[in-house]
Amino acid sequence: MNLSCAGVVAALLLATMLRADAPLDVESRVNALVARMTLDEKIGQMSQSTGMRSPLAERLKQEIRAGRWGSFLNAGSPADRAEAQRIALHESRLGIPLLFGRDVIHGYKTVFPIPLGQAAAWDPELVEAAAREAAREAWAEGIRWTFAPMSDIARDPRWGRVAEGLGEDPYLAGKLVAAMVRGFQGESLEAQGSIAACAKHFAGYGAAEGGRDYNSAWIPEVLLREVYLPPFRAARDAGVASFMTAFNTLNGVPATSNRFLLRDILRGEWKYDGLVVSDYNAVMEMIAHGVARDGSDAAREAVNAGVDMEMVSTAYHDHLKALVASGAVPLAEIDEAVRDILRLKFRLGLFDQPVAAPREVEPGAQSLALAERAAAESAVLLKDDGVLPLADAVRTVAIIGPLADSPEDQMGTWAMDGQPQYVETPLAAFRKLLGSGRVLYARGLKNSRDTSHEGFAEAVEAARRADAALVFVGEERILSGEARSRAYLDLPGAQEALVDAIHATGKPMVVTILAGRPLTFHRVAAEAGAVLYCFHPGTMGGPAIAKLLLGREAPSGRLPITFPRTVGQVPIYYAHLNTGRPPLASELGIPAGNPVHPEGYTSKYIDVDFTPEYPFGFGLAYTKFDYSNLRLSAPVLEGGGRITVSAEIANRGSRAGTETVQLYIRDLVASVAQPVRKLRGFERVALKAGETRTVSFTLSAADLAFYDEHVRLVTQPGRFYVWIAPNAAEGVRGEFELR
Ligand code: NOJ
Repeated sequence: MNLSCAGVVAALLLATMLRADAPLDVESRVNALVARMTLDEKIGQMSQSTGMRSPLAERLKQEIRAGRWGSFLNAGSPADRAEAQRIALHESRLGIPLLFGRDVIHGYKTVFPIPLGQAAAWDPELVEAAAREAAREAWAEGIRWTFAPMSDIARDPRWGRVAEGLGEDPYLAGKLVAAMVRGFQGESLEAQGSIAACAKHFAGYGAAEGGRDYNSAWIPEVLLREVYLPPFRAARDAGVASFMTAFNTLNGVPATSNRFLLRDILRGEWKYDGLVVSDYNAVMEMIAHGVARDGSDAAREAVNAGVDMEMVSTAYHDHLKALVASGAVPLAEIDEAVRDILRLKFRLGLFDQPVAAPREVEPGAQSLALAERAAAESAVLLKDDGVLPLADAVRTVAIIGPLADSPEDQMGTWAMDGQPQYVETPLAAFRKLLGSGRVLYARGLKNSRDTSHEGFAEAVEAARRADAALVFVGEERILSGEARSRAYLDLPGAQEALVDAIHATGKPMVVTILAGRPLTFHRVAAEAGAVLYCFHPGTMGGPAIAKLLLGREAPSGRLPITFPRTVGQVPIYYAHLNTGRPPLASELGIPAGNPVHPEGYTSKYIDVDFTPEYPFGFGLAYTKFDYSNLRLSAPVLEGGGRITVSAEIANRGSRAGTETVQLYIRDLVASVAQPVRKLRGFERVALKAGETRTVSFTLSAADLAFYDEHVRLVTQPGRFYVWIAPNAAEGVRGEFELR
């Protein structure tokens, strides 16, 4: 064969490889394509932009033709995306499709409860279904990649992004992260309605010092592996298509140039072959962190650490070519990054699917019904002295407060695609369910930060004229989420004063709190007959709440994060160590803010109780559940075996209810001090009035493993406590030995 003939054969072979019907695996197609790409085209694939406006600018079209961009985020209308994709596929030299990413975090057009709220349902199946709906809606509008699930553990409600996470516990969050990944990605990435998920922010972002967003995280490796990494590992095991690096430094090294995280753990230990994207501008922020001199330095560090794609900033575009020429960045690193990106594009079927006709979606009956179920399941009843569910004798209700009829606010932090016109607020829902004649309304305050008492008189008057006052307070959506850290956790503005004023009427009062984080509201809870905590419940929060308060649904949510009594207790979480001087039960009862003489030299405060306001896992129902008869299948767990723990859960009330039964363990003696409790299982159990059910969990040695002082995952023989419990502070306890 002469040379030109060989060239023709090679070209034909390549053309065949790139065709959809070619019987080649993804890896071969990726390699064939990389072999044909120029360095400019490779760097283009590694660059992601937000810059797409309607109508598409000629300059942008030209850039797409030239392969300047591999991906766009949060950009364009469905029509823009379709047109840009057409240009990329049919007018660029190699026809490499664009990847459109977007923050589809807790819903798309239909907005589900914020992730922290979804976590309160303790229901992986629900979380999966919500992500599935969100993916379906987003996919229809040309989105193929979402930046969720946020897999960061956070134990500090000052941090605004606690709203976007799945709570304080790595076990619970891990189960929910995996469910969310399954929901977004479906059975196969290339199926209709599937979008790539992204485990973010790798890693340590939730440990921001002082709860201040973007702040430094100092996490010893044992804690990193016990608490902060497991949800990411769960995402990886669920097949998550991408990871996003965090903004913060971890132990002084920016996550975006952190070889320990990205090379040793993610690529090395976890054998991850998906795409790694930086966070927004995080590559250039390495200059502010003080670890890169300039953009060139930042690009070199990020790419050499294994960050495949740069979000928004343009250090890769501006410097990689020169860095490759000088040998500071090996071409092999670039090729590796491009392979990760192309692999995902192939897995998503982007090369093989025709550009879909642009389409705008609206929330449908199915997604709205699911959103209502999610909102109902995520509401946590924190107090009820008998006022709920509202009795038939309550003919007229006064709906009061700045969150009673605030469609945007109830959607929560990430709702840029949410459709306020579809939102049903509590006010609207009560009017629908009871009829307008039975519903009085007074907003009381313009918004949650309003400090004016001007609207109080009208609100008090409404309460006086009604049989019960239903007060809706909390946080506007703009008070939680990214860059929304708070130093105070109480109800903002004059909301407490509003509650005081309604309380003074003597009318039965139910306080419903809609917020993006755990708040502190001790006095409000003391004054209220009942408190329902709904986080930001999303599009269908109104009907869900109204039906709960009216007893047409029963509350079943449980806290996925500890609620402090006061911000001064933060960080406060259930899986803490015992310390050498644990506080005593006899030291409880310290009135908030009122110092006592410290009698015992124990680990407590002298001006507030050491216990939280509400423990992790806590939530009431319209009935009462009793726990008894904890049994173990054997007193000893032999190394390779299993042990079954069971208990009887009885519904002692007169109404049906759903209990979330929780399994906790404690390793009593280990070479590294272990938490006083660790969650190791949970199950939602629906029980009819009077029904008793035996609930069982199985434990093996792997469930008892921990990281020792040499950061080795080990099990050590010895005694363990085990609880089957309604929350992290109660339950029935047993004991066994691991041999
Ligand atoms: C910054 C946020 O930290 C990240 O979570 C988000 O996905 C990106 N911006 C894109 O909007």
